[in-house]
Amino acid sequence: MRELRLGINIDHVATIRNARGGAHPDPLRAAKIAEAAGADGLTAHLREDRRHISDYDMTRLTAELTIPLNFEMAATDEMLEIALSHKPHASCLVPEKREERTTEGGLDVAGGHNVLQSYVTSLKEAGIRVSLFIEPDPKQMEAAARLSADIVELHVGAYCDTTDSMKRQSELERIIQAAALAEEMGLECHAGHGLTYDTVGPVAAIPTIVELNIGHFLIGEAIFVGLETTILKMRRLMNEARSQVVA
Ligand code: PXP
Repeated sequence: MRELRLGINIDHVATIRNARGGAHPDPLRAAKIAEAAGADGLTAHLREDRRHISDYDMTRLTAELTIPLNFEMAATDEMLEIALSHKPHASCLVPEKREERTTEGGLDVAGGHNVLQSYVTSLKEAGIRVSLFIEPDPKQMEAAARLSADIVELHVGAYCDTTDSMKRQSELERIIQAAALAEEMGLECHAGHGLTYDTVGPVAAIPTIVELNIGHFLIGEAIFVGLETTILKMRRLMNEARSQVVA
């Protein structure tokens, strides 16, 4: 059975730090705790408005982490330059709007094909793996394959956020089909956005998904029981769901 990696998104440690403008709590410290708790990777999103992760955080993360860093970035020249200077393990291209509270939907790869190609090519030429954060939509996946992305990360927010069980099931079906299509197209498949202890199981049980990136819920839960405990529980739930999969 294929391994399922857990990537921890530490943006919201920086959100709390920035609420007071000082140095505490430090996202690098959170990253090191995640590393020690067995996380397979870290994710950080340097936004255009620097509302959470800062340029200095990026410098420290790339210098001090021993597990892979997934650098989330908008497809802009500024972010490309930063990615090329830090050379993270992977860059995940995401849509970014100043007024949004979080990354609200997937990247329109099908619509933005011409604009995105040069970013994908430059990152790949620098040896950075390229991931595209997209809706579980065949049209977007075909466009991602045409761009020669290495990875698609499926935005699972619609599945996680709904409280309607019928809608949740139909969103899960879309994710299952998209993950199967990724496999057919030779794209590595990741998933993320909004995952919690309650929603992670069915996604972790999809055999062609090899990485889950989880942030907000884990950082919030860590306030009550600590980051290590929270990560270990998420990992256990992922492993339990994965072990039920018939290979
Ligand atoms: N993956 C991507 C590409 C994201 O943009 C985010 C949110 O920043 C996540 C994963 C993690 O989502 P959440 O913080 O809701 O767990």
